[in-house]
Amino acid sequence: MQMIRNAWSAVARSDELGERPLGRTLFGEAMVLFRTADGTPVALGAVCPHKSAPLDLGAITNNRIACPYHGLEFDPAGRCVHIPGQEHIPASLRVASWPCIEALGLVWAWPGDPARIGATRPPELAQFGAPGWTYFHGQTSLFPAAIDRVLDNLADPAHTSFVHARTIGGADAACIPLDVSETPDSITISRWIENSRPVPVMATYGNFSGTVDRWQVYHLRLPNISVVDFGAIPTAAPRDEATRDRYYRTYSFAALTPADAHSKHYFWLVLRNFADGDVEVSAQMHDAYLATFAEDIELLARIEAVRGHEHAPAENLLGIDRGTIRLRRALAARRAAEQHD
Ligand code: FES
Ligand SMILES: [Fe+2]
Repeated sequence: MQMIRNAWSAVARSDELGERPLGRTLFGEAMVLFRTADGTPVALGAVCPHKSAPLDLGAITNNRIACPYHGLEFDPAGRCVHIPGQEHIPASLRVASWPCIEALGLVWAWPGDPARIGATRPPELAQFGAPGWTYFHGQTSLFPAAIDRVLDNLADPAHTSFVHARTIGGADAACIPLDVSETPDSITISRWIENSRPVPVMATYGNFSGTVDRWQVYHLRLPNISVVDFGAIPTAAPRDEATRDRYYRTYSFAALTPADAHSKHYFWLVLRNFADGDVEVSAQMHDAYLATFAEDIELLARIEAVRGHEHAPAENLLGIDRGTIRLRRALAARRAAEQHD
């Protein structure tokens, strides 16, 4: 399936990039990521145009990356600027260079047509760094499923009661219908589960004495960002933002980037309004999130093995798939637009 390239795509956590080159497969291409001396992130094609040696095994000096094989050097724009033992440098001797920017503690690259960048920026989150909110970044993981399969999963709260019964799910949500709304750049799927028992994570951190009204808001910023707003207030408390911010609330932010046609990188961070600055709680939550992802990964890998195939059986979409249906339509429109560019 054609990968959508005209979008800021997370390629690394900011703290992954330093003076050593980092090799990573992105959009089916071998890329190398590093920083120049002033800290600017750089994303270059990692296959040397001389004899295809991997540039991520090379060294960085004077803001250039040197090939480990015969020492050709490339600048941050991807141009070859030095050939040991040869004066003339052919202009065609270059590697791809993707524009890079940092936001939310992540490095973002633009793998598509630079002319399409315009005023676009990577997404922002008002709570990131705001007083009363604590965040932690997660360990980057590779999901063994195509990006569309994972986006599909993130537009599908109906699965949480079943796949995540031991972590974030609650059986009492299973039959509650979903509201779906859409803008040209986003899809939001949400529901309130009223008069409910706090689910395991809320019981641990939320200090609730009785039942709660809890919400799940699955927000997708097309084509590659998911923000899940998840929280609870005591049953029948007012639902304004200030009240919701006073009780248990988390924002789970995920940036999805294709590694190749059948796997994708998952860059994520979590913001919370409780246990301010408590690193132990962050560590516990990190482990709980990894356990939740493992529940998805196990299923998605099996589904990829079936659906990633040319002769995949037909699906039968149901009433619970309204978010998925809109998502697929929106992604198909973006693919068509890129094809016509
Ligand atoms: S393969 Fe890179 S310099 Fe020869
Ligand atoms: Fe899930």
